[in-house]
Amino acid sequence: MKDFIAGLPKCELHLHIEGTLEPELKFELAERNGLSLPYSSVEEMRAAYTFDDLPSFLKIYYEGMQVLRTEPDFYDLAMAYLRKGAEQNVRYAEIFFDPQAHTSRGVPFELVIRGLRRALMDAQSQLGVRAQLIMCFLRDFQAEYAMATLLESLPYREWIAGVGLDSDEKGNPPAKFAAVYERARQEGYLLTMHCDVDQDNAIEHIRQAVEDIGVNRIDHGVNILEDQRLVEVVLERGMGLTCCPISNSYVTDSMKAEGIRKLMDLGVRVTVNSDDPAYFAGYVQENLEALQDALQLSREELAQLERNAFEITWLPRHLKDAYL
Ligand code: ADE
Ligand code: ZN
Repeated sequence: MKDFIAGLPKCELHLHIEGTLEPELKFELAERNGLSLPYSSVEEMRAAYTFDDLPSFLKIYYEGMQVLRTEPDFYDLAMAYLRKGAEQNVRYAEIFFDPQAHTSRGVPFELVIRGLRRALMDAQSQLGVRAQLIMCFLRDFQAEYAMATLLESLPYREWIAGVGLDSDEKGNPPAKFAAVYERARQEGYLLTMHCDVDQDNAIEHIRQAVEDIGVNRIDHGVNILEDQRLVEVVLERGMGLTCCPISNSYVTDSMKAEGIRKLMDLGVRVTVNSDDPAYFAGYVQENLEALQDALQLSREELAQLERNAFEITWLPRHLKDAYL
């Protein structure tokens, strides 16, 4: 089964590029930028990756990305992920980036996006991996800052497929960003947002995302099973859920494999993704292996998960069809 999973053409739709920053590259970038890190080795750094919920993970995630300063840093970060993806037979990826995590510490938006974009272009020509960017707003910052970031992105509109919403969900419901999402839709961006697993008011957040905001996809979203009516809406619209089994096991009590199974059985377009692989010790292949191990998925079911992913990509129909 491992060989079957390795050979499967894959599509990654829920991956934070800053969450692919491996300790080795962190040390390299720290040295390049003349920064010192509070760890003496890669092993020591990895040993400090102890988190058991979303806020404790986010603290380490934001600390880690401080070494990203220049356009080549963002290029190297994205290129390292795309090489890893190519090794795992990822054929297409939609990649989140968190511009406010950089602009809020003085790193210009333009430099971030130019570095990422250059890597995407090189990966397509050199590795045969196609990718697009999704710009995420940080939900624990003010909505006005998200709106300013949206406006700042407009000169690069053609380089960004859509927008997302991430970071600490507690007290930061989708409704807080309704105006930002409305403007993003007017600008032609496609829309997704995190409804992280087992967060406070999870089902109300999913309801707002689906019914009030009208997102195209939901990131995570397993708690939708708590409301049969919303499941039906998602089924009717053919909406996809980007699930992240190993990530779930780090920020909650389990991978939520049974919930993922139930969604698959209901016919929801569930996909398997890696979220923050440098921190959760698993890229998309390891996530598929972990889920297969938990649910004894058949080859057909594994292939269906990848078909779901290609089907819900934000690619034009003719490009999508080439993967299906
Ligand atoms: N930012 C990076 N990874 C995230 C996650 N899993 N949930 C929310 N925000 C994030
Ligand atoms: Zn995520």
